[in-house]
Amino acid sequence: MTDLFADSEPRRIGLGPGAVLLRGFANDKAEHLLEALQNVIAVAPFRNFVTPGGHTMSVAMSNCGNAGWVSDRSGYRYDRRDPSTQVPWPAMPDVFTDVARRAAAEAGFDGFAPDACLINRYEPGTRLTLHQDRNERNFGAPIVSVSLGLPAKFLFGGLTRTDKVLRLMLEHGDVAVWGGPSRLAFHGVDVLKDGVHPATGRCRINLTFREAL
Ligand code: SIN
Ligand code: FE2
Repeated sequence: MTDLFADSEPRRIGLGPGAVLLRGFANDKAEHLLEALQNVIAVAPFRNFVTPGGHTMSVAMSNCGNAGWVSDRSGYRYDRRDPSTQVPWPAMPDVFTDVARRAAAEAGFDGFAPDACLINRYEPGTRLTLHQDRNERNFGAPIVSVSLGLPAKFLFGGLTRTDKVLRLMLEHGDVAVWGGPSRLAFHGVDVLKDGVHPATGRCRINLTFREAL
């Protein structure tokens, strides 16, 4: 008897203690996620935040949920309102919450209740330098990160900036989850290569879910 899956890539790739990549986990919900995203973006369009150091970020961002991650000259923080309109961020679509909760549970984090979703849009040539997600109040909850559209090289390191960094491609539908001992792991995204994806066009979309407030 032949094993159809013998040569296929593993669907679950360990990134470190409490950190796992779930290949294709969101595939069956990708279209639904992107549809719901359109409604969010209609209310809270993508924009390029300025860092406290005065640099304009190359990755365009928006948010949904009770809180959104924002940056300006005064610092990084979570805000209940979109600073460009002073209107509360759009509610988190049910399909977002559902995928995030199920992925967290699959990674061993039951009861994940995200109140913030940062939406990143990468166009060719953009990148996100190595950083920690540390503006959230509760480091007991994991980060759940959903990739859609063009593939990108993800960098996943350790708890110090100089730790060895894993490099692996994130594809449409992949979900990375990091929590527990890896909650404050340094991570980033390498410069996006040019291309066109049938689901998103000439960009990559990433949704990162957090318990922020
Ligand atoms: C992030 O660190 O906020 C995003 C990571 C990613 O785009 O995969
Ligand atoms: Fe991050």
